[in-house]
Amino acid sequence: MTLELLQKYLDESQNIVFFGGAGVSTESGLPDFRGEGGLFRQKYAYAPEYMLSSSFFRENPKVFYKFHKEKMIPVGFGPNPAHYKLAELEKAGKLKAVITQNVDGFHQRAGSRNVLELHGSVYRNYCLDCHESYPVEYILECESVPYCECGGLIRPDVVLYGEALDDEVVGKAIKYIAQAELLIVGGTSLAVYPAAGLLDYYHGNKLVLINQDPTGYDNRADLLIQGKIGQVLGSLKS
Ligand code: OAD
Repeated sequence: MTLELLQKYLDESQNIVFFGGAGVSTESGLPDFRGEGGLFRQKYAYAPEYMLSSSFFRENPKVFYKFHKEKMIPVGFGPNPAHYKLAELEKAGKLKAVITQNVDGFHQRAGSRNVLELHGSVYRNYCLDCHESYPVEYILECESVPYCECGGLIRPDVVLYGEALDDEVVGKAIKYIAQAELLIVGGTSLAVYPAAGLLDYYHGNKLVLINQDPTGYDNRADLLIQGKIGQVLGSLKS
């Protein structure tokens, strides 16, 4: 019944926006942060939230990069049916934007073109001193901390805890959410702000929430689906 209603929403809507998080990539084999088996539930020498902070990056780039390379750069993994279905819907002209908190680039690899990366991407890296760009391959090749030819420290273009989101990306995300007819939210605990707060800009009556665990926004959903997003979206006709 719920899947039928979601299919009806999809069929009827010409302005769909998707908002997602780490749970979109778990069916690709990547762990999320707060779900079952998530990174924040594993034991490390430092709390993962601290290891993903700007202060930790500056104070301990060696440990930061070890964690970043092992856990944040998705070597050997790729998109799953959720990513592919969203790309298909965009191609059909129905989905206007994917707004993601993920830094794994899977939406683009699946074919999505209008992807707003609220938390940046591990595929972009730059020198803190001269701003030279470096591909992810360079980061992976460096045995320890990657430095620029100028001697500056290279950092990934991701938003670390303690840093602000890009105003332009946020502005675009707000515009798409505010204009959306159907907003599909999935694979996110909606626990991290300001990203989660962007949902407040949706004023429609088709807010679909697809998640495995409960979230603080469940009572606002017009359609709540507890399940695996790859399975759910993958089962729909576009
Ligand atoms: P979380 O790990 O907080 O939440 C992922 C959610 O997805 C959980 O509620 C899971 O139950 C759910 N989930 C997992 N697999 C799923 C599946 N196959 N289908 C449906 N739901 C599934 O991830 P985010 O909400 O993305 O930020 O986390 C937000 C931010 O916290 C991240 O962008 C990252 C992190 O710290 C930074 O690093 C700045």
